[in-house]
Amino acid sequence: MIKKLTCIAALFTGLACFNVAQADDYYQELGGKEGVEKIVDNFINEISFDQNIVKFFEGTDITRLREKLIEQFCHESGGPCEYTGDSMKDVHAGMKITKAEFNRVVELLQAAMDDAGTPQTAQNRLIRSLAPMRPDIIHQ
Ligand code: HEM
Repeated sequence: MIKKLTCIAALFTGLACFNVAQADDYYQELGGKEGVEKIVDNFINEISFDQNIVKFFEGTDITRLREKLIEQFCHESGGPCEYTGDSMKDVHAGMKITKAEFNRVVELLQAAMDDAGTPQTAQNRLIRSLAPMRPDIIHQ
């Protein structure tokens, strides 16, 4: 629990995440291909139910979004995938995403992982690996 809070706080503030084991291959802990697909499907579902967040995705090709998120989460967790999408800076440019909106999306990802039954350690690791992307997403 402490580790979870440390990592969540780190993602929200953009600071390093302390006292947590080095990132390593945790793809299997996410449930492999099936687990990552389930997380991304739940994530897109969560986004679709959030009125303040879904509006960002009005013109989005959801099939592509799903594919790129699966690649990204797979790659970040050490799985056998390459991320072939655009850079986080380019993708989110012009969206003017606030800290609050970013934090909300992280909460939706956590809810998605809870629903997928993802172990807490693997949740922490995925969130920690996404943390460095924060400055490329907020206020772009
Ligand atoms: C940890 C945070 C985030 C990650 C890892 C992330 C990752 C991604 C990825 C991988 C894509 C697909 C890129 C591609 O098509 O090449 C994407 C697209 C998108 N993201 Fe994010 N994102 C994050 C946060 C956010 C937030 C906070 C918002 C808005 C509140 C947002 C809005 C969007 C939108 C609207 C698209 C689709 C763009 C389009 O239609 O071309 N993202 N994101």
